[in-house]
Amino acid sequence: MTGSVLSLGLPMAFPAPGLPERVRIHEVGARDGLQNEALPLPVEVKAEFVARLAAAGLRTVEATSFVHPKWVPQLADAEQLMPLLAGLPERYPGLRLPVLVPNERGLDRALAHGVTDIAVFASATETFARRNLNRSLDESLEMFAPVVARAAAEGVRVRGYLSMCFGDPWEGPVPLSQVVDVAGRLLDLGCDELSLGDTIGVATPGHVTALLEELARAGASAERLAVHFHDTYGQALANTLAALRSGVATVDASAGGLGGCPYAKSATGNLATEDLVWMLHGLGIETGVDLEALAATSVWLADRLGRPSPSRAVRALTGG
Ligand code: HMG
Ligand code: MG
Repeated sequence: MTGSVLSLGLPMAFPAPGLPERVRIHEVGARDGLQNEALPLPVEVKAEFVARLAAAGLRTVEATSFVHPKWVPQLADAEQLMPLLAGLPERYPGLRLPVLVPNERGLDRALAHGVTDIAVFASATETFARRNLNRSLDESLEMFAPVVARAAAEGVRVRGYLSMCFGDPWEGPVPLSQVVDVAGRLLDLGCDELSLGDTIGVATPGHVTALLEELARAGASAERLAVHFHDTYGQALANTLAALRSGVATVDASAGGLGGCPYAKSATGNLATEDLVWMLHGLGIETGVDLEALAATSVWLADRLGRPSPSRAVRALTGG
């Protein structure tokens, strides 16, 4: 617990032109992170993880998935988890706890727990749609249509995820036009927000800028977009900066860099929230996050998982 970085604690802030003043971090550690763990964590530990994330200032904390329990056994305790989170939104005003929902069965389960935010999750490629959802791309969008419509009628906010936007482990490169097409179809279903997923972490900054330019040309404004980078090739922060320069102000990240996707083996952890916050605060961008409390949370969780956090910022801040 010594060293200059530790005593610094915070980066010096040097604002750069053309960037948002505030970024909303969509924290996915409890869902994207924990869905990939070999051993499921006790539900009480998951609940404490979410509570600590909220206490650290995160205000969008994706909590779990109402998917088929056999497909993602790590999150099969969604019904047990939600009641343990019930008091958090009152304690932390503005806190939203989205959950993943693939179909109407999942929506029924989520609504039974009073959720206010859900996410459907599509793929820009045919192969991943089949592997992740057991449906063709068209069939998966058909599956989502009544989910989005019913959620909207209930006043529930809907995020649409779009996976494999920058490359697919089975199909290889994914043409920009294909991504723009499926993105448009998801937004047309009525999703309030669209998160562009680099599921296997192959994007580079120029690619991000090119996709966002194509989406803007097609009428998808940056205000409705979020970016979701996995850090497989160490590009996630650079890609995030490119997205911020294109006007995106919602960024997905997972505490401590947990994560992956059980149906895309080449997916590694998400962009670590601590690494993101270090960069954003260094750019003078507000996040509302207490970086030291967040890093302490990741160390606490790493102890429960039995291995150190892969986040560089967590290690630097905690001497780990
Ligand atoms: P299926 O086997 O085709 O399901 O799976 P089905 O519709 O044929 O139904 C079969 C049985 O499952 C039925 O029961 C249903 O009721 C039941 P039966 O009548 O036989 O007794 N069932 C359910 N039970 C509980 N909850 C449900 C549910 N749905 C059906 N929601 C399904 C289709 C979509 C359900 C399955 O493929 C699935 O659950 N997939 C989820 C995969 C997943 O969660 N992947 C990870 C998240 S995506 C990701 O990580 C990427 C992201 O981070 C962005 C990025 O990085 O790119 C978001
Ligand atoms: Mg992901």
